[in-house]
Amino acid sequence: MNVEDILSALHSRKGELDQFWPLHNPEGCAELTIADPADIKTVQEIIHAAFAEYSGRLNPQPSAVDISQEDLRLQMADGGAVIARMDGCPVGAALFRLRSDHLYIGRLSVLPQHRSRGIASALLQLITQIAELAGRKELRLGTRLSLERNIALYRKHGYEISEYLHPASQFADTVVIMTRRLD
Ligand SMILES: CC(C)(COP(=O)(O)OP(=O)(O)OC[C@H]1O[C@@H](n2cnc3c(N)ncnc32)[C@H](O)[C@@H]1OP(=O)(O)O)[C@@H](O)C(=O)NCCC(=O)NCCS
Repeated sequence: MNVEDILSALHSRKGELDQFWPLHNPEGCAELTIADPADIKTVQEIIHAAFAEYSGRLNPQPSAVDISQEDLRLQMADGGAVIARMDGCPVGAALFRLRSDHLYIGRLSVLPQHRSRGIASALLQLITQIAELAGRKELRLGTRLSLERNIALYRKHGYEISEYLHPASQFADTVVIMTRRLD
């Protein structure tokens, strides 16, 4: 099954998936959906706003800070994106890529004024369900070792560090790959 088939199967099963689609987070306010191609600008704006705090702070700067729509399109080609809305306004997003043996999560983003309300957690939950429906037994993502709160968030969701990618320069950040098995 290719990505288009999996996504169209997910869309056609919306009725069955009503328990989480649209999904309400524990505070009962975020509606989650899979992004349409027309949502690409919205996804870009959320990512820019969420990652702006790292501009000039992390080395190297995350490419999410100024990601282009073309890059986003490429990164969504073998997967897609999920969006969280509150009262109809986009507040969070994340990308997912379906690899042969795992699903990779990228650019998890929540607008600064909407943080600590479980929106990222709800997005992670929806992506987990997508991985299960697509038959992937493993979830992966990457983050900087220096971002301790991010690592804590992922640990809370059952991810463990599986790989350290040490940079060539002593001034650059170590990236960690975090993995969660779905068996
Ligand atoms: C990381 C991020 C997506 C979390 O979104 P969120 O909706 O606040 O997350 P949740 O409410 O589900 O969970 C909150 C947890 O996220 C983690 N977190 C990381 N950065 C945070 C931040 N700046 N503000 C609040 N929580 C943050 C903490 O573990 C927090 O737990 P705590 O409230 O007990 O401290 C959001 O802070 C963000 O967009 N950050 C900038 C972009 C980024 O770093 N993305 C991840 C790339 S790997």
